[in-house]
Amino acid sequence: MKYCVDTKENDNWYIGTEKFNPQAIDKSETVMFQGNGYLGIRAAPEEKSLCEKRDMFVAGTFDAFKDEVTELPNLPDILNIRVKINQQLFSLSAGTIQNYQKYLNLKDGELIHKFDWLIADQKISFKFSRFISMSDKHLFVSKVEIISKQNDVNVQIVSGIDGQVSNSGTQHLVEGDKRLFDDKIMQFKEQTQQSGIKFIFNVEHKSYIDEVLLNNKSNIKMNRRQIFDNYDVDLMKNQKFTFVKYANVYTSIDGDTEEDDISDVSIQDMKKNCLFNYAELLNKSIRAWNTEIWQRSLVEIKADDNKPQVAVNFARYQLAANTPPDSRMNIGSKGLTGEGYKGHTFWDTEIFMMPYFIFTMPEVARNLLRYRYLGLDGARKKAKSNGYQGAQFPWESAWPTDGEMTPPWGSVDIVTGKPMKVLSGFLEQHVTSDVVIAVMEYLYATEDKKFAEEMGYEIILDAAKFWNSRLEWNDEQKYFEIKNVIGPDEYKEHVNNNAFTNFTAYWCIQKAISIVGLLKNSEPEIYDELNYKLNLDDIYQDWLAKVDLIYLPKANDNNVIPEDDTYLQKPVIAVDKYQSTGGHAKIFKDYDLKEVDKLQVTKQADVLLLIYLFEDMFNKKIEKANWDYYEPKTTHDSSLSLATHAILASDLHLEKIAYKYFERACEVDLGTHLGKVTQGLHMGATGGIWNMVVEGFGGLRVLDSKLRIEPNLPKSWNSLQYQINWHNSLVRVLIDKNKLKISVMGEGIKFINHDKIYQVQANSKLELPISDEVTVEKENDNN
Ligand code: BGC
Repeated sequence: MKYCVDTKENDNWYIGTEKFNPQAIDKSETVMFQGNGYLGIRAAPEEKSLCEKRDMFVAGTFDAFKDEVTELPNLPDILNIRVKINQQLFSLSAGTIQNYQKYLNLKDGELIHKFDWLIADQKISFKFSRFISMSDKHLFVSKVEIISKQNDVNVQIVSGIDGQVSNSGTQHLVEGDKRLFDDKIMQFKEQTQQSGIKFIFNVEHKSYIDEVLLNNKSNIKMNRRQIFDNYDVDLMKNQKFTFVKYANVYTSIDGDTEEDDISDVSIQDMKKNCLFNYAELLNKSIRAWNTEIWQRSLVEIKADDNKPQVAVNFARYQLAANTPPDSRMNIGSKGLTGEGYKGHTFWDTEIFMMPYFIFTMPEVARNLLRYRYLGLDGARKKAKSNGYQGAQFPWESAWPTDGEMTPPWGSVDIVTGKPMKVLSGFLEQHVTSDVVIAVMEYLYATEDKKFAEEMGYEIILDAAKFWNSRLEWNDEQKYFEIKNVIGPDEYKEHVNNNAFTNFTAYWCIQKAISIVGLLKNSEPEIYDELNYKLNLDDIYQDWLAKVDLIYLPKANDNNVIPEDDTYLQKPVIAVDKYQSTGGHAKIFKDYDLKEVDKLQVTKQADVLLLIYLFEDMFNKKIEKANWDYYEPKTTHDSSLSLATHAILASDLHLEKIAYKYFERACEVDLGTHLGKVTQGLHMGATGGIWNMVVEGFGGLRVLDSKLRIEPNLPKSWNSLQYQINWHNSLVRVLIDKNKLKISVMGEGIKFINHDKIYQVQANSKLELPISDEVTVEKENDNN
């Protein structure tokens, strides 16, 4: 992780670069992305440049182009500020750049881009600063400070709203009115083509010389889809010219403002915000970051190397910046950071990001799960159209009620010239279990009975109905099986009895059976309601009859659980040269997908993910044997894979290997490699960073409703401290070389540590010595 700027103080909170590298423009745009979950803007420079990918999105504003699936429209550019010095257009590719720095302050959410620009006989110092407010979801503020260090100069600025944008060519927005309010607020309206969502963008500017406000007259220019203001200032040597741009964005689906009022409300808001200066508005936003995010999600690593702390800060920053504050929306697998996967949500949320929210901000986890509840109708439609019952959750989803959004066709096969079918939307069915896994974990951690009764039980019961209808009887083997799926390992298509799918389907039906039992006994009214909706009386007997006949792939003589019916019979090849970090599927240089399908090559943790999530179903021998078997066969071509490997290795006390996986996983986006960053960040992998630190090294796990805390502190760390919510308590866990200290604020907790149950009373502490009894497995030197 060299992607950190050297700053003297507080440097756990900065990522950045001190070299201007035109090749890496899109990389820095992605990793230094700014957002507040509602609004997100890539860290493109204010001035336009080649190789840039400037995108701005508002969560949930999906629109479809013709017969394509819906995507988040790239919105008009409010970043743009064009500067001319003595008529020379400023550009980083002209003249000479000195003292370059571009960095994101993760703690405050502020992006700084500063340098000296040497052109002709001028030396101009530029400092661009900007933030998206965490305290006012609509607000974006940016500032440019310009000092001429050698001569007096003339400065011209053009800035406004530029609607000449698209999603890589696809145009989603219809141009609406452009207006000027009070001779200073520019307003631009647009509307999506298919979904009819209305947008309002407002911009107002203020400028100063040496902090004295200038009284510039507006000089507005309008073009097609553009509205700009122009400024012209004479600046003396060493004087500072400051230009502040206030912008806001409102939509007709914001939910908190009546559609007819959004124009007025947005203008009033703009006027109110313009009473404050940049620093005052930034401070309000910083306060919200502190109270809403940092105080609630504490993770502190004490080690000589600060990279792990930077990585976990980066992860928490991005999770906050990309999570919509609205339960009709969810986190895209690329968040709001790029056009990749069209803003769609995958199982990435439930399996890789959800633990963070469940344990630190349960109300956010609840919102994310409510999104799935709102998606039940779409999931029912999907099940029905495939000939099944219950709810089959979409592999890719956008607006919750729209159902399956996986594009049916992918990129073109270069051999046949024909587009390749994307099978995940049809066959990658484990997502239905993944939703249930997240619901259960949330219920275990929070005991939120209200959520269970209003939403959670219905999700689980309908998911179980789907799985039940999905089972096929194998008369020869006398068991129920699940044929023709894709498991988490997407390199194996049309497989029968994928272990992850079968085990989790079985588990869902089991959970549904116990919920029915529980409700019948203790909440008959709720049971009646659910029974009325879902016909539980009929299906319950069927579950009971079938559940123990579901085929669960058994470990073979070597303790290896077959990934599916045919995996273990396929040829083995050396996979190490294809193992990757940067999302380049190197294996496709030598094989195509059909060939990879016929080999024992795994894209991402599959059986190993099952073992990590359902550890209590497997013993340590099986865990180790499967690690030894699958780890060398996994390419990690999905960024989701590395964190699972780091956690399992840590559980198996393979300390060095665990740490290597940890470092690789932290570098998925933060590393120096360029990868596929233009498309956006890997949000699942950022969740994975928190998981590795807290669940992996910090040893936090929920095992069938019980909390276990069994840390494995890396040798190079002196201590780790984290905070979680469990039931009605706030729990601080401190691990150092000698002890595990648990401090509880609230009702008190029980937890398991090395097979013993401990109790911490209300508002008290407990200290345990770190056990040395753990047998450290001999690490394989080749790893
Ligand atoms: C992975 C999936 C993941 C998707 C979106 C794919 O490459 O294989 O597991 O859900 O990316 O992140």
